[in-house]
Amino acid sequence: METVVSGIRPTGNLHLGNYYGAVKSFLQMQNEYNCYFFIADWHSLTTRPKPEDIIQSANTILAEYLACGLDPEKATIYVQSDVKEVLELYLYFNMNAYLGELERTTTFKEKARKQPDNVNAGLLTYPTLMAADILIHKAAKVPVGKDQEQNMEMARKFARRFNSMYGVEYLKEPESFSLSAKAVKIPGLDGSGKMGKSEGNCIYLMDDEATIKKKVMKAVTDAGPTVPNSEKPEVIQNLFTLMEVVSSPDTYKFFDEKWNDCSIRYGDLKKQLAADINVAVAPIRERINEFKSNTDYLNKVARIGAEKSRENAAQTLKEVREIIGFRSVGF
Ligand code: TRP
Repeated sequence: METVVSGIRPTGNLHLGNYYGAVKSFLQMQNEYNCYFFIADWHSLTTRPKPEDIIQSANTILAEYLACGLDPEKATIYVQSDVKEVLELYLYFNMNAYLGELERTTTFKEKARKQPDNVNAGLLTYPTLMAADILIHKAAKVPVGKDQEQNMEMARKFARRFNSMYGVEYLKEPESFSLSAKAVKIPGLDGSGKMGKSEGNCIYLMDDEATIKKKVMKAVTDAGPTVPNSEKPEVIQNLFTLMEVVSSPDTYKFFDEKWNDCSIRYGDLKKQLAADINVAVAPIRERINEFKSNTDYLNKVARIGAEKSRENAAQTLKEVREIIGFRSVGF
């Protein structure tokens, strides 16, 4: 079975866009591949989180993914900082990563612009840590969004460079598995673009019924159709797109017909949409709350995941050390 590795940023809560995008893909992949999913808490140090927030953020995102159906029996789910082996591989890649190529990465340039008073070496070497995350498990495939394509190129480059440096065919180049291409695109509620945390147009899996309703009722609409069977403008199409995902086909058809004969009332559509979103997320929300309050369980998942991940990582590292010319005493 092919190996899949993916890192999850422990920032913020999952929203509908994440759920019908990355999360659904992960759920499918855990049935078809040997998956390693980890919470990228080392990566998050580049932005100086408070010590008391680190475990909290990891637990929150872990609880949310488990609530969505990520299954520790199927996938190896772990916290990055529990698998120290990754750091050794990171060091080896850093020894052969060049300042110029790291500086040219778009994500680095963007981060450096966003936090000009903290352009640290961790930011610069983000792609080498990411390559180590991936190559420590010899991943064949990595599910990532478009924004990570350049980091994936770097990971492939570091794998090739390692091989040619030591005259081996050891590390395989990991393939990207485009999440954006396959996933349903969930629009935001502000009328344009997709749902995204930085856009502030999200419905979170954690939102309660009243919050969902408030957000949906505030969604942008227009004055309504005047010509039968006309094309829907983007703001309206977005509501229908959401409805297609969360509502029954009958409900969708009902409102689509109302649109077509110009008798649609947006208030009714929104009420229905809010109710259907709530039905879709309520069971997940309940499970998130259960998992979040059960830190014993979360710790157990993290511990088992760390053990499985470390076992595999140690094997890779042993081989890498031998290739480089180190002794592997203790491995
Ligand atoms: N850089 C990824 C992101 O921002 C997170 C990540 C870190 C990752 N390490 C990874 C993703 C390894 C895939 C594989 O979303």
